[in-house]
Amino acid sequence: MQKIVVEGGVPLHGEVRISGAKNAVLPILCAALLADGPVVIRNVPQLHDVRTTLKVLSELGAGIRADGDLIEIDPRSVHSQVAPYELVKTMRASVLVLGPLLAKHGAAEVSLPGGCAIGSRPVDQHIKGMQALGADVTVDHGFIKASAKRLRGARVVFDMVSVGATENVLMAAVLAEGTSVLENAAMEPEIVDLADCLKAMGARIEGAGTPRITVEGVDRLHGGEHAVVADRIETGTFLVAAAMTGGHVTATHARPDTLDAVLDKLRHAGADIAVDGDRITLDMRRRRPRSVDITTAPHPAFPTDMQAQFMALDCIADGAGVINETIFENRFMHVNELLRLGADIRVDGHTAVVRGVEKLSGAPVMATDLRASASLILAGLVAEGETTIDRIYHLDRGYENIEAKLSGLGARIRRIG
Ligand code: UD1
Repeated sequence: MQKIVVEGGVPLHGEVRISGAKNAVLPILCAALLADGPVVIRNVPQLHDVRTTLKVLSELGAGIRADGDLIEIDPRSVHSQVAPYELVKTMRASVLVLGPLLAKHGAAEVSLPGGCAIGSRPVDQHIKGMQALGADVTVDHGFIKASAKRLRGARVVFDMVSVGATENVLMAAVLAEGTSVLENAAMEPEIVDLADCLKAMGARIEGAGTPRITVEGVDRLHGGEHAVVADRIETGTFLVAAAMTGGHVTATHARPDTLDAVLDKLRHAGADIAVDGDRITLDMRRRRPRSVDITTAPHPAFPTDMQAQFMALDCIADGAGVINETIFENRFMHVNELLRLGADIRVDGHTAVVRGVEKLSGAPVMATDLRASASLILAGLVAEGETTIDRIYHLDRGYENIEAKLSGLGARIRRIG
């Protein structure tokens, strides 16, 4: 199995190009199922999760052509409405084919994603939304089975803010008959990007990026073209790496307006941050970060997908930071690994108290989920000696060429095995 080896102690310097967002491209690939013609998607990151989604789409019968960071999906040949367990179990986001299949083909059978390392993650809100739009939904033998002759526009009030449920119901509503209003919708930039892509295909959507999204259903969507928004989590991860190592790094092709909460915390940590168009420059030379307190919450508050990285920062910062995880029940699995590197962290339920230490020391550690793996690499970048990170397949799910990008900034990092 492949591992990543990091030798700590080098301040990062230089420019890093940010890729398209994993969490935007996955729903957008699924949205292509709604069209009557080919959909061209640009700025697609090369990620394991993208390959898994393409496997699901090709299993359904879609034609797929890939050329560098461009992917063309031709949904006209789709002949199946079944997303099998073997694929869905490896990636929860495959549940996002539910809405498009149901809206376009009147039926969908999607395996229940099941639990995952960071919590139980139910899909009740996805199901509730489809039912509100008039679908018959049953959960049988581990499958969500949904059917409807034609979905009908409706008011859907989500019980809690869910990114995936908002996306799934939005994709279903665009082909429903009449008007739908999604209340308590998630406001993440990836939802806005999905809505932009749907609009490029002829959908009529207003209010994406606010808690109320209004959709006027249309009879058909045509093919279209869309470029995926920059990955705010990848951007944040590189900026934290720069801050922790006392570096000076510019993230290019980024979307600073999607990163307010993260940039704010980096400034609190003592970083100088300059924004110029799609470039974000962070300067932390000759300084040790100060600890920051973090509470994760739906956008525009601080993203749960940056929690582990900021915990790594607090591990070596001056002072103590309190980290509160409110989105996922089991998202502190990186703590035990960070302890192996010499961190001082105490966890009580959803809260962790991190006391900064002067030095971490390199050790073998194990990645447990996607963002946890990133936090271990960050810790490795500042730890004395060598840190070897095992189970890095988690990392390849969501970061494009992370070791090449970090090497480009001067880090001593390599993949082995
Ligand atoms: C998406 C992101 C993930 C991010 C998360 C929260 C993608 C592909 N993944 O995941 O990286 O960490 O948003 O920002 O975009 N919930 C329910 N019932 C539901 C749906 C969700 O109870 O039907 C709960 C979940 O268990 C969790 C919370 O809602 O506690 C938020 O989950 P959700 O926003 O749906 O996350 P995902 O869309 O799965």
